[in-house]
Amino acid sequence: MASGQGADIIAMAGKGGTGKTTLTALLIKYLVETGRTPVLAVDADANANLNELLGLKVDITLGEIRDRMKTETPQGMTKNEFMEFHINQAIIEAAGFDLLVMGQPEGPGCYCMANSILAQVMEKLARNYRYLLVDNEAGMEHLSRLNLRKIHTLFVVSDPSARGVMTAARIADLTRALQVDVGQKVLVVNRVPMPVPEALDSHVRQAVEKTDLEFGGYLPASEEIFQKEMAQDSLMGLGLDVEAVRQAYEIFKRFL
Ligand SMILES: Nc1ncnc2c1ncn2[C@@H]1O[C@H](COP(=O)(O)OP(=O)(O)O)[C@@H](O)[C@H]1O
Ligand SMILES: [Mg+2]
Repeated sequence: MASGQGADIIAMAGKGGTGKTTLTALLIKYLVETGRTPVLAVDADANANLNELLGLKVDITLGEIRDRMKTETPQGMTKNEFMEFHINQAIIEAAGFDLLVMGQPEGPGCYCMANSILAQVMEKLARNYRYLLVDNEAGMEHLSRLNLRKIHTLFVVSDPSARGVMTAARIADLTRALQVDVGQKVLVVNRVPMPVPEALDSHVRQAVEKTDLEFGGYLPASEEIFQKEMAQDSLMGLGLDVEAVRQAYEIFKRFL
């Protein structure tokens, strides 16, 4: 809580399928296990699936509440009050952390007031937490949708390819155009064959030299994560005997 007013914000970036949601689930697990709670996780992917990796069921999304606000706000209640009241219903409470699912963004003919009310309510809500984690889809626009002004750490996740690592570097550069102050940008290369191929390592070194990305680490391709995915099971039960979990925790320990 650097500013003393609200949670430290940690966000994910990276191409689709690189492992952002997986890393978010492991980060929640890490923060809860190390007692750095309470944590609010926000699933900002229109195709929300973080809840599945956490073993939680979603009843209503913020997008659905925003849509209801437009037509259902009762007389004598402001739209802010309506949103605040219903957001509390949308918060899924789990052990040590809460989850909020954004759901679908505004369609064409954006009702911008709805988004600005949402941002205001989120800002107020964030004051109750130590960490606010935002799992994004590929683009960075979703960070502006939440109107975040200061991000403590941005994890940029990449697949183990030359192009993937270059894309991660480009994503890190793109964040400069946003009106967001990012404390540190940390590259995580996921699903890496072990031992780490020398060629991949050299691409990573180049990407880190060219940008303000710091190198976080390599997470191995994991049979255990694969099995959990196949069984559509939560990742919360994975232990430190799983090398990918151990490496992820090392990165979290070093940067958070
Ligand atoms: N280290 C890993 N080992 C094995 N499978 C992984 C690993 N990281 C992610 N996956 C799998 O890759 C797929 C994409 O991961 P996901 O976290 O959903 O990516 P994103 O959120 O960036 O789209 C999922 O099926 C997930 O189970
Ligand atoms: Mg995802």
